[in-house]
Amino acid sequence: MAQFSESADVPDMGRRQFMNLLTFGTVTGVALGALYPVVKYFIPPASGGAGGGSTAKDELGNDVSLSKFLENRNAGDRTLVQGLKGDPTYIVVENKEAIKDYGINAICTHLGCVVPWNAAENKFKCPCHGSQYDSTGKVVRGPAPLSLALAHANTAEDKIVLSPWTETDFRTGDAPWWT
Ligand code: FES
Repeated sequence: MAQFSESADVPDMGRRQFMNLLTFGTVTGVALGALYPVVKYFIPPASGGAGGGSTAKDELGNDVSLSKFLENRNAGDRTLVQGLKGDPTYIVVENKEAIKDYGINAICTHLGCVVPWNAAENKFKCPCHGSQYDSTGKVVRGPAPLSLALAHANTAEDKIVLSPWTETDFRTGDAPWWT
């Protein structure tokens, strides 16, 4: 009899241990899940790869989804996002599936106004003092002394990732003034 009850206890113990493990696993999982955003908060986004890049954000601070971004846009559109250091940056639509590999910083090199894109005239025109930039952001009329700054624009996991442009400015052949 004793043997019988002992052997009957074994599966019970096993079940209890299993349940304990399951509970521990669940609690640990929940705890880790809760900790994740906290830990992530303290890790600078720049360490997330993409060569010091940062994900483009919309006006509400949410990551820009590439597929959604392209859904409602046409080739040649220039749309502002929050880029590197939060700077307003134009993303240029290449076609229905892709963006250009560079973004254009919208801050006027004269006194810092945000320069709107004028699609009808195919240029950026600063409302503050009349500076103009061509479709790539190259200055074509003062008083702005310099072209608009560039950033690399890449895509990863349906996100737009901007990273610093440290190479030659392809529009002027000069070293970038903004680095
Ligand atoms: Fe743009 Fe002066 S700030 S022209």
